Amino acid sequence: PIEKIHAREVLDSRGNPTVEVEVHTPFSIGAACVPSGASTGTHEALELRDKDKRYGGKGVLKAVRNVNDVIAPKLKGMDAARQRELDMLMLELDGTENKSKLGANAILGVSMAAARAAASALELPLYRYLGGVNAYRLPIPMMNVINGGKHAGSGLAIQEFLLLPVGADTYHEALRMGVETYHTLGKILKDKYGKTATNVGDEGGYAPAIGTTREALDAMMDAIKKAGYEGSVKLGMDAAASEFLKDGKYHIDGKSLSRDQLVKYYADIVKDYPIIVLEDPFAEEDWEGFIAITKEVGKDVTIIGDDIFVTNVKRLQRGISMGAANALLLKLNQIGTVSEAFDAATLAFRNKYKIAVSHRSGETCDSTIADVAVALGAQIIKTGAPARGERTSKYNQLLRIEESLGKAATYTGI
Ligand code: PGA
Ligand code: ZN
Repeated sequence: PIEKIHAREVLDSRGNPTVEVEVHTPFSIGAACVPSGASTGTHEALELRDKDKRYGGKGVLKAVRNVNDVIAPKLKGMDAARQRELDMLMLELDGTENKSKLGANAILGVSMAAARAAASALELPLYRYLGGVNAYRLPIPMMNVINGGKHAGSGLAIQEFLLLPVGADTYHEALRMGVETYHTLGKILKDKYGKTATNVGDEGGYAPAIGTTREALDAMMDAIKKAGYEGSVKLGMDAAASEFLKDGKYHIDGKSLSRDQLVKYYADIVKDYPIIVLEDPFAEEDWEGFIAITKEVGKDVTIIGDDIFVTNVKRLQRGISMGAANALLLKLNQIGTVSEAFDAATLAFRNKYKIAVSHRSGETCDSTIADVAVALGAQIIKTGAPARGERTSKYNQLLRIEESLGKAATYTGI
């Protein structure tokens, strides 16, 4: 039974306050920290901020109090392993559609910490507790090596330029291939654009002052070749296109494009580069854009819905019935409980949508998503560049998981 739940305010990787929660049982303590996005989807569950003088309004003391004074007394005495009941009870306590009363950051902190406390009491690794006998697949580390959009001052419209080392036989080989390519890319950028080009953005990727998408992709191709991984390291992009849609046009590479022109823009790029992933190629309400690009290139390219689906079963269902995208980006804090995120994953799998488990641009060293990716058997994990502690903590946790799985571990690419 849960003996005590305690929340406190700590800092994330951008120096913004976030919620840390501890769940105590007689046999264990589970602790978890909640992440935070910058290019957040409008339909995400609400992240409760104090909006007062502290930390420029970004304090989370209200969310902390909601855990300590509202949630904790109700959950005390319950079995930490009854994840779904705990999550449903918190939904009831909140009573709103988007968790705006207690805050998704309050609720998710408890949800994640309860899972950790239960796993530890049962002496199981978290991935095994959450995934059971089906937890053996290591995801492709999809690394964000050039940062643009809201995550950097690079001037690139596309938010994330991603490496996918699909040609490896194991996760640790894939990680090494990605890291070597990342470091090679750093040298290339420095030689071509000068020292400041290797300053990094929020997710540890380089933030060079490059003007166009193709220029960034060319640098990545150059890096893949020089590192010796042509053919085995592929490319992806998270456009986060909601951020460059203004007045009905998509503003990219100095042009303003209609939906149809943007479809063509991506189709041409996919022809010229080994791109196997496109995330949020259109804005969060542009279902038609998602349908069009899925029709155009979806046979060969994994089209991931992030801001459009927000890990929400209702929005994902809508996308599935319309043929919008063919993969789900899964972010725990978009929906606010472990159980609901797993519901979204189940719906995705049943409909042959792939799953990419994802960090946020504001992170901590909490590595829960690494275990979640293996528990779900997700094809992809997206957790930034292989640089900065809050990013490598997830990649490193996957090394530990792979080691502990031993011969049972598989790495099969996409
Ligand atoms: P965010 O970015 O965490 O700032 O929302 C990540 C993403 O768009 O995938
Ligand atoms: Zn995204």
